[in-house]
Amino acid sequence: MLSCSQPEKMGVIQSGEIWPDDKGVHINAHGGGILFYDDTYYWYGEHKADSTSAAMVGIMCYSSKNLSDWKNEGVVLPVEKNDTTSDLIQGCVMERPKVIYNQKTKKFVMWFHLELKGQGYTAARSAVAVSDSPTGPFKYLKSLRPNAGRLPFNMTAEQKAVFDTLDIEHFAKWWTPDWREAIKKGLFVKRDLAGGQMARDMQLFVDDDGKAYHIFSSEDNLTLHIAELSDDFLSHTGKYVRVDPAGHNEAPALFKKDGTYWLIASGCTGWDPNEARMFSAPSIWGPWTKHSNPCVGPNSELTFGGQSTFVLRLPGKKDAYIFMADMWRPKKPSDARYIWLPVQFKDGKPYVEWMDSWDLNFFD
Ligand code: GAL
Repeated sequence: MLSCSQPEKMGVIQSGEIWPDDKGVHINAHGGGILFYDDTYYWYGEHKADSTSAAMVGIMCYSSKNLSDWKNEGVVLPVEKNDTTSDLIQGCVMERPKVIYNQKTKKFVMWFHLELKGQGYTAARSAVAVSDSPTGPFKYLKSLRPNAGRLPFNMTAEQKAVFDTLDIEHFAKWWTPDWREAIKKGLFVKRDLAGGQMARDMQLFVDDDGKAYHIFSSEDNLTLHIAELSDDFLSHTGKYVRVDPAGHNEAPALFKKDGTYWLIASGCTGWDPNEARMFSAPSIWGPWTKHSNPCVGPNSELTFGGQSTFVLRLPGKKDAYIFMADMWRPKKPSDARYIWLPVQFKDGKPYVEWMDSWDLNFFD
């Protein structure tokens, strides 16, 4: 018997295929994530147009009781069509939106990666919007580069002494061994200290104690940062750590199982798929240990053609997690496909293998 907090039924999930919504239209919610609230799943993602990856519409939301049948709830955070001074002017880049619910404020908080129109990917900002309802409308609040003026809280005095000697002027040439060493020691953290740290591909995670964290590709995508959000989830507290410095990770997806934090990420090859990586830690603050590719079997060296976006923990089921990824189609962005596969565990370690089709009964 399913309790009321469990999905009613689960249709078949077929990764890589067209996934029709309640109107028969392929779901348009890319780089997305899922919020479970009041017995309903809400899937937020990037609306992708047919001929550009820029934001022409905004952030979409779909709702479902069973994770396979999705109702289009429409645009919950639209682009701005007229005010050219708006950060969200049509043609900007709005990527990887995630929504979390704040128990204290009763607000739904969305963070996403924002690039300003006409500036490529140089702005590298995080943006936040808020709503009283999971289906919006979300009110855009601000965009910023996180943690201006703050150093990683766990930097030792010794590391700080080395950090203080780093001089960007000495490293005009990228990718040399010396440059990589300097990146590890915080060369770009120092470069961006005053204005805040770059933040592109991102994730949100709410821990069991209600604290929320923002995980993002920083330092020109060279290093992931995990940063604590304030109690209202609307700003950064300034407490953060760097994960795998100079490791070049994108598309972070974080989940927790039996007290261990797991982080799946991709390499940095734009829209092209690459081999996923995985890290684990006993605390969100680390120490983070690198593991091999969590994907196994045919095409696992290319994450089955996708790039991670989220790991969903299913409420009411034991050890049930779904790995979600995007199969990007940059020539026709709206045709991008979704990969949803169960996370399996061997000796406590997560792995993901391809299945042409599966349903929620897999977890029983
Ligand atoms: C990918 C990233 C996407 C998007 C894309 C742009 O690496 O994961 O979210 O930013 O690059 O080229």
